[in-house]
Amino acid sequence: MLMLVVAIQDVLDGKYEEKSLTIRGWIYRKRESKQTIFLLVRDASGVVQCTVKRDNPSWTQAKKVTIESSVMLEGTVKHDERAPGGYEIAVENLSIIGLAEVFPITEYKSEEFLRNVRHLWLRSRRMNLIMKVRSEVLRFIHDFFKKEGFVEVSPPMFISSACEGGSTLFGLKYFDKQLYLTQSAQLHLEALIYSLEKVYCVAPSFRAEKSRTIRHLTEYWHVEPEWAFADMDDLMRFEENLLSYICHKTVKNCKKEMESLTVDISKLVAVEAPFPRITYTEATERLNSKGFKIKWGEDFGYDEEKALAEDFGKPFFVYAYPRQIKAFYCKTYRDNPDLVMSTDMLVPRIGEISTGGAREDDKEELLRRLKKLGLREEDYDWYIDLRRYGTVPHVGFGLGLERLLTWMLDLENIIDAIPFPRTIRRFYP
Ligand code: 4AD
Ligand code: MG
Repeated sequence: MLMLVVAIQDVLDGKYEEKSLTIRGWIYRKRESKQTIFLLVRDASGVVQCTVKRDNPSWTQAKKVTIESSVMLEGTVKHDERAPGGYEIAVENLSIIGLAEVFPITEYKSEEFLRNVRHLWLRSRRMNLIMKVRSEVLRFIHDFFKKEGFVEVSPPMFISSACEGGSTLFGLKYFDKQLYLTQSAQLHLEALIYSLEKVYCVAPSFRAEKSRTIRHLTEYWHVEPEWAFADMDDLMRFEENLLSYICHKTVKNCKKEMESLTVDISKLVAVEAPFPRITYTEATERLNSKGFKIKWGEDFGYDEEKALAEDFGKPFFVYAYPRQIKAFYCKTYRDNPDLVMSTDMLVPRIGEISTGGAREDDKEELLRRLKKLGLREEDYDWYIDLRRYGTVPHVGFGLGLERLLTWMLDLENIIDAIPFPRTIRRFYP
């Protein structure tokens, strides 16, 4: 007889009480008494307790089965308050698919150890839940852009000139040429707005970050939109609406996952547009009144951003930055060319999660800027073309997906927001 194969979460949701069925998964925990073997079995959806009795023909298989073996179990669902989740499966037949060797992850392993066996640690409930929320957050991001009429595009990863400055560029040999890995799709997205007006991508960005912090990866996923006929106010409004949408959707659709991860969801529920906006100049004054000694024109580091974020306790914008600390493409305020139309979104504990702004749309200004920064005009010739042929005011931003998740899920370190983190020291597995 063919047995019904079900997801464990459906069993836990009470859909199959007293029904005979099959589950497939892996042995998560095992405990034996004289008359019963208790197997906690996990699949992608959840963990359920299964019991094998001594008089059952499967007893020998149950004796033999090891932690992390893959199995198929047939049995009957019983309601039992004592079982974790309130349901258990009385096993009638247990087949071992792949008998596991002694699993290296046991309780109380160090962080360092778990990072070295990341390929196995991904099986943990914690990583399973984080990856599910990550997937949902990505879905909400795509939904939002679609809703707003944006076209998803696929930018190149091999690039010939820097977007965000040379210090964090990864170089690579491309046949007999020197190329780089992209730091941001922005410049290529700018080219696409002349065709599609509103575009976005979710793609990897690479940064040769030497800093070892809780918020830096060398490879991260970058959410980047760019659109035409828009200004700074449009930009900030769009960003706050996007973030509110993501937070509220996640609270609604990932309730179970967030509870199991003991996430403080109140901060997500509370996210509401409009966000506070302060200028860079106001931010330095605030910081200096707290005892920092920032001279006007200096950039903020992690400590400054965290201190500012404490004041607000929620997402907010800093905008109108000194020209000297921002990239060549930033548009200057026409009444104050020392300032550029650039804005960072900051959140508590993490600091910056996005940078965006208006792009210099005047060809002569752009050329002056490139020259001033010692960048070679010929490296950016195609980009300058965008100002030669039908230039338009336009804006865009880049949001770091893993930084966003680190904040949303109260993760201690950004590395848990991505399955296979890459940092200066870590590229295995
Ligand atoms: O601030 P960044 O460097 O801005 C840009 O790349 C712009 N060209 C984006 C644009 O306007 N299209 O990077 C944007 C965001 C940061 O705010 C941060 O969230 C994330 O990318 N980010 C990193 N995330 C993890 N690890 C790193 N090393 C990161 N560097 C930047
Ligand atoms: Mg930035």
